[in-house]
Amino acid sequence: MTGPDYQSTPIQSSSKKDIAQRISELRKEMRAIILAHYYTVPEIQDVADIVGDSLALARAAESTDAEAIVFCGVYFMGETASILNPDKLVIVPDDNAGCPLADSCPIEDFRQFKAEHPDAVVISYINSTAEIKAESDIICTSSNARHIVSQIPEERKILFGPDRNLGSYVMRQCNREMILWQGYCYVHEAFNWETIRPTLDAHPGAELIAHPECRQELLVHADFVGSTSGLLAYAEKSDANTLVVATEPGILHEMKKRAPRKTFISAPKDADHSWSTCTQMKQNTLEKLMMCMENRSPQIVVEESLRQKALKPIKRMLEMS
Ligand code: 13P
Ligand code: SF4
Repeated sequence: MTGPDYQSTPIQSSSKKDIAQRISELRKEMRAIILAHYYTVPEIQDVADIVGDSLALARAAESTDAEAIVFCGVYFMGETASILNPDKLVIVPDDNAGCPLADSCPIEDFRQFKAEHPDAVVISYINSTAEIKAESDIICTSSNARHIVSQIPEERKILFGPDRNLGSYVMRQCNREMILWQGYCYVHEAFNWETIRPTLDAHPGAELIAHPECRQELLVHADFVGSTSGLLAYAEKSDANTLVVATEPGILHEMKKRAPRKTFISAPKDADHSWSTCTQMKQNTLEKLMMCMENRSPQIVVEESLRQKALKPIKRMLEMS
C-alpha cells in the first residue's frame, strides 16, 4: 500500500452518502462555503467547495461572499478565517483540533524573544495563534515565505517563528540570516533520510518531494521542496512516474486525482513503514462536519481588539504575496 486508507472509516458508504447529501442541503440553507485543507480525510475533501493550502484557504476566506464559512482544518485556520470575517459565522467540525506547532509558541515567551531583538522585523508563519499573529509584523505561509522574506531590506534583522525548519529553509533559499524560534511540526520532523532512502532505492527513477517543514537533513535529498499546493503542481508536471511524498499523507488523495497514471508513495517515517499523519487534521470527520452545520457550532470568534491586531499582519501578507 502506498499510503493510509482513510476511506475505511466505520460508517457504511450508504450512510456516508446520506451524510454528504445532508451536508449539501445545509450548505444551501446556510449559504455556506466549505473550505478544507489537503490533509483532511478524502471524504471531507470530496464534499468541500475549495480544497487548498493555507494561503489559498486564507484567500478564499477573505474573498467569499458566502454567509457562513465551515473550515475543515486545524484551529488556527478557522481562527484566521474568523479574523478576516468578523461578521460571518465561522464554524469548525472540531474545535479541539489544534496545531501542535502553533501551540508550541507561548505568548509570554514569544514577547520575551521579541524584547531581546527590539529592532527586528517579526515574520510569523500562519501556523500560529491569534496572539502570536498580533505580535507580528507580517504573516507568511509555506508557499509565500521566501517571497515575503526577500522583500525585507537587507539591513533589517528578521525574527522568524514558530517553525525552525521552514525558517532555516527560507534562510538557505534567500541566502540571509534570520533569528529562529525553535518550534517544529511533529508530522514533518519525523521524516528522515535513513528510512526514506530504501523506498527510493526500491523504485528506480522515483523522485522525492518534501514540504519545507521537514528537517534540512532530508530536504537536501529532495528533488523538489514546496508547500502542499507546490507539491501538487510539481507532482502533476514531473516526468517521474513514481513520487515519494514527504508530507502528511492526506495530500495523496488530490495527487491521485490530478495525476491518476502516476504512483504516489507516502514517505515512511520509520523502518516499519508507518505513515506520519497529523492526528489533529484527522479529527475532522464527515459526521462532525454535518453536526457542526446542523448546530451552527462550534463557532470561532476572536475578541475584537485581538482580532484587529492580528488582522494587520495577515492583510500585509495578502498584499505582499
Ligand atoms: P501548507 O500551507 O503548505 O498547506 O501547509 C500547512 C501545514 O499545516 C503544513 O503542515
Ligand atoms: Fe500543524 Fe504539522 Fe498538523 Fe500542519 S501537519 S497542522 S503544522 S501539526
